[in-house]
Amino acid sequence: MNQHAKSAVLVSRTATVLVAEIDNRPVNALSHSVRAGLAAALDELERDDGIEAMVIASRGKLFSAGADITEFGSEMREPFLGEIVARLDSSPKPVVAAIAGRAMGGGLELALACHGRIANSDAGFALPEVKLGILPGSGGVVRLPRLVGVDPALTMIAEGKEVSAAAALDCGLIDRLADANLQEAAVSFAAELASPGALRRASTLPFPPFDRAQQEEARKRYAKKYRGREAPQRAVELFAMAAVTPFEEAARREYEVCRELLSTSQSRALRYSFQAEKAARKIENIPDNVEPLDIARAGVAGCGTMGRGIAIALLDAGIDVALYGRKEASLASAREAIAKTYASAVKRGRLTEDAVQGRLSRLATTTDISAMTGCDIVIETIAEDLEAKRELISAIDNVANDDTIIVTNTSFLDLEALATATSRPKNFAGMHFFNPANLMKLVENVRAKNSSAKTLVTLSTLAQRLSKTAVTVGAAEGFVANRMLSKRTREALFLLQDGATPAQVDRVLTEFGFPVGPFALADMAGLDVLAATRAARFDGMSERERGADIVERLVEAGRLGRKSGEGYYRYASDGRQSEDPSVAELLENHRRERGISARQIADEEVLERCLLALINEGANLVDTGTAARGSDIDVVWTRGFGFPTHLGGPMFWASERGLPFILDRLKHYSATVGPEFFAPSELIDRLAAENGRLVG
Ligand code: 3HC
Repeated sequence: MNQHAKSAVLVSRTATVLVAEIDNRPVNALSHSVRAGLAAALDELERDDGIEAMVIASRGKLFSAGADITEFGSEMREPFLGEIVARLDSSPKPVVAAIAGRAMGGGLELALACHGRIANSDAGFALPEVKLGILPGSGGVVRLPRLVGVDPALTMIAEGKEVSAAAALDCGLIDRLADANLQEAAVSFAAELASPGALRRASTLPFPPFDRAQQEEARKRYAKKYRGREAPQRAVELFAMAAVTPFEEAARREYEVCRELLSTSQSRALRYSFQAEKAARKIENIPDNVEPLDIARAGVAGCGTMGRGIAIALLDAGIDVALYGRKEASLASAREAIAKTYASAVKRGRLTEDAVQGRLSRLATTTDISAMTGCDIVIETIAEDLEAKRELISAIDNVANDDTIIVTNTSFLDLEALATATSRPKNFAGMHFFNPANLMKLVENVRAKNSSAKTLVTLSTLAQRLSKTAVTVGAAEGFVANRMLSKRTREALFLLQDGATPAQVDRVLTEFGFPVGPFALADMAGLDVLAATRAARFDGMSERERGADIVERLVEAGRLGRKSGEGYYRYASDGRQSEDPSVAELLENHRRERGISARQIADEEVLERCLLALINEGANLVDTGTAARGSDIDVVWTRGFGFPTHLGGPMFWASERGLPFILDRLKHYSATVGPEFFAPSELIDRLAAENGRLVG
């Protein structure tokens, strides 16, 4: 083979087939250099009479992650992807895509414009543009349904779902799976397609029917599933158009819609969120080359709700678990609960019986703390009692290997007071999981004063292995997540005192885009649990906050939330939630006793007070360095508390509204509700003066 490099595409040839390999690692994004390289390869294919066909392949771990996201927002340089795709489609000589790893977005669109597609069995296929608030713009919408049918195509395009190589073969997205050598098989396939009459173009196939009833059904489904999101609805619209429009014109319209969506605030927010998650992986003041400790075996000390959830998350990630509890009876119920969770995963078709047995065989339960010897990490998960935690952490420290990392899952205790219970402050930190720990996607890794770089990098890597997003934060009280949440909860309670109803507050916040409002959420968490948290924070509370003892009143009345059938709401036996006049009465009495007269509160005030409480505290956390960057706060809120990703997160939202406006509203509520709750953060004050932003 004679090989020469053309920008980020390596071109070589066999006797009659040209092979163009995309080489733009790490993810083979279709940057200008790749597009230019592909255009040059196409020139060669067209020019050289000795060449009969071409294969587009790749180097590195994936075929291509699609368009280069970093080029969005700047002037795109020719050749555009659309031109390359059009040239591929109309090429009189066949082109085959040889897909190793993932083909995503524009990368898949490139493959769809080829005349044949062959893949390795571990390949994956996705058009994830919708997650960035846009839609495929280089033929994905007009070609994919022609190959696979409307429903599978809509699932990929409007939902961004990835399909496996086996599923892709099944639905006709690819033509073949390669047995061994993908490139050789692709070259033979391309040569076959060069025989007369063998070449097939997706663009010449009919677009399958997509009638009004199907369109209506899809629209409704996506309105419910992706509330407030624009792109899924535009996908249905585009499908409807493409079903009745000639190919070329439909392709042009697809491109225009992609461009339109690119300039929407939703797309800006979603692209920002993608980058914010990448940024969160970078731990402040830690060099890039620190290697994590390899975690093969983990100890979980404490077998309550959190310990069980964490154990499941570790087992799911292929890590052996030693689960420690003080009493055999609690370990037995932990084992039973874990087995029950897995049984329900089998019932739902998420796991096979074999996979469950494999996981359970890696779980050891013990009442002997010395079982923590030999664990690479031990996660302490017992109740929030400083002395009890110190005692357990010290016992773990005594038996653990020297390089074992010990972490606490505390959500608010003083991390330094826990660190001094060990003889290894460098190997100690916090890892704050959220309940249910096996499902929740967020972890706060909490940096103690002496936590080493290796410890923090290990926790960040472990979180990724557990399929969670980790944000590394400082050890301020409540860290980032709960500290901000407590400010919103406080404000929501003040709103009730002032005259709002739980249903109004919840409605306003769900209309904004939260999946659930603060009071429905409180009922899920259990009002007794929240009352206990308030009791633990009592000393640090202001007079007004202490007086807003609505949760305590509800608990006294036996209303513990969903679990008792009554909380802020009443719950029917089928779980349906309704307003309860006795809660209105309880609130009325509460106000009367405190001499507060209820007033009509506008929805706008409800929203502003709840969001400003978050934004102001978030800014304080950035200003004091508890959060390394504003975008980390947004990751916590979008991943942990359902802040709508298409609005970016509280810091992004505030920056988009403009900090002078935010400052003005903070001053307003500082004067009307109280300066101790809304005195503007110094950071907002400073940034508003220069019209700056809380995020990049
Ligand atoms: N463009 C530019 N950079 C990209 C990129 C892209 N499409 N996809 C990933 N990267 C960057 C990441 O930002 C990261 O950079 P960093 O090291 O500086 O932080 C680096 O590549 C490695 O990425 P990850 O850390 O995410 O690596 P993973 O192995 O965890 O995941 C991935 C790889 C699955 C490809 C994941 O990065 C991903 O999902 N990327 C987004 C893919 C996507 O949305 N494609 C559609 C683009 S839009 C499009 O194609 C429009 C077209 O229709 C016209």
